[in-house]
Amino acid sequence: MNELTGKNILIGVTGGIAAYKVVEVVSRLKKLGAEVRVVMTRAAAEFVAPRTFQEITKNPVSVEMFAGTVNFHVEHIALANFADVVLIAPATANFLAKAAHGIADDLLTTIVLATTAPMMVAPSMNTRMLEHPATQANLKILESRGVKIIDAEIGLLACGTSGKGRLSEPENICAEIVKFFAPKILSGKKILVTAGGTIEPIDPVRFICNRSSGKMGYEIARAAQLHGAEVILISGNATAEVPAGVKFVKVETALEMRAAVLEEYENVDAVIMSAAVSDYRVKNVAAQKIKKSNETLTLELVKNPDILKELGQRKNHQLLVGFAAETENVIEYARGKIAEKNLDFIVANDVSQEGAGFGVDTNIASLINRAGDVESLPKMTKAELAERIIRRVAESI
Ligand code: CTP
Repeated sequence: MNELTGKNILIGVTGGIAAYKVVEVVSRLKKLGAEVRVVMTRAAAEFVAPRTFQEITKNPVSVEMFAGTVNFHVEHIALANFADVVLIAPATANFLAKAAHGIADDLLTTIVLATTAPMMVAPSMNTRMLEHPATQANLKILESRGVKIIDAEIGLLACGTSGKGRLSEPENICAEIVKFFAPKILSGKKILVTAGGTIEPIDPVRFICNRSSGKMGYEIARAAQLHGAEVILISGNATAEVPAGVKFVKVETALEMRAAVLEEYENVDAVIMSAAVSDYRVKNVAAQKIKKSNETLTLELVKNPDILKELGQRKNHQLLVGFAAETENVIEYARGKIAEKNLDFIVANDVSQEGAGFGVDTNIASLINRAGDVESLPKMTKAELAERIIRRVAESI
């Protein structure tokens, strides 16, 4: 089952050049399983043909108030009742003004007045129009009524200028919708996630790092925040995109990560330690770039603190989740780590398997609890695995 299966989403498209981007929004929502209906203003239909939305949604697209369109007798009421959520994208200044003041002079604005469904608006317009006190006041009115504003982004605008006013990316808009429907199983909880690989300097230009992309941890942070948790993401080196809405703390070395984690530890309900922490660091970091004078070079390494083990020792109320990246005897080694680090459960994976481990979008993992019970999961995306881990966490705190 997809994240939006069984959800009815009504999308109002108003007349802005960014209307074409909403085709992508609709397509993504359909792929996530949603039932989508589109209503366009007449101006929007100048930018994108209603037929485009019709083909993607497999539903008629309504534009005119009195067109007597298919299926519905009193169309604005039927569409208003259909919606579990109403999204207006792009939302023009004109639409925002009408919605803020209850003006209903076309099909879309009539639906907006007639629906009791929650509403989201994604504004898109010229920067000066967006910043105009009238538009800002209208946005405030809508926000005070509980309308979710999906903020416009800064970038190059169709009018040739650069500034705030670009429609939020389709990916972000869809993420907001998914978040809206996600059960808030972690609401009121504070979750600390570590991710990425630590960087251990050798000299001012070189360092020791590892293959971690941070993707697994970032997906966990995203899933936790989707389910209503307040999330702190402490990250070493990573290439994954930081999820919106989390408190993001960037660190480099294992020692920095330890300090950042300990600072938050007392105030969190759970720690999910997915970071690939370097076990060793260079004993004497060179102050200047090391020159290639000798045929061989020996670096002396000293052990880094085991952050998770320390958390296990200091644990009072926190749920502790560790990761075990292994290349052999996966379950046995992982069970050993649960005991050694005083964990509640561990996510164990054989990183030598194809489709698991570093840099790829999928993972093959087993969840093991304190009693040693093993739940072996099939190959799945890191996003899906993150969802499984977060559900486990929610059951346990
Ligand atoms: N970990 C940590 N601090 C370290 C090393 C690891 O907090 N210095 C955490 C990792 O984030 C992970 C867990 O401990 O959640 C297990 O890490 P892993 O590298 O699999 O195991 P190690 O304890 O380092 O043992 P080994 O390398 O010998 O397998």
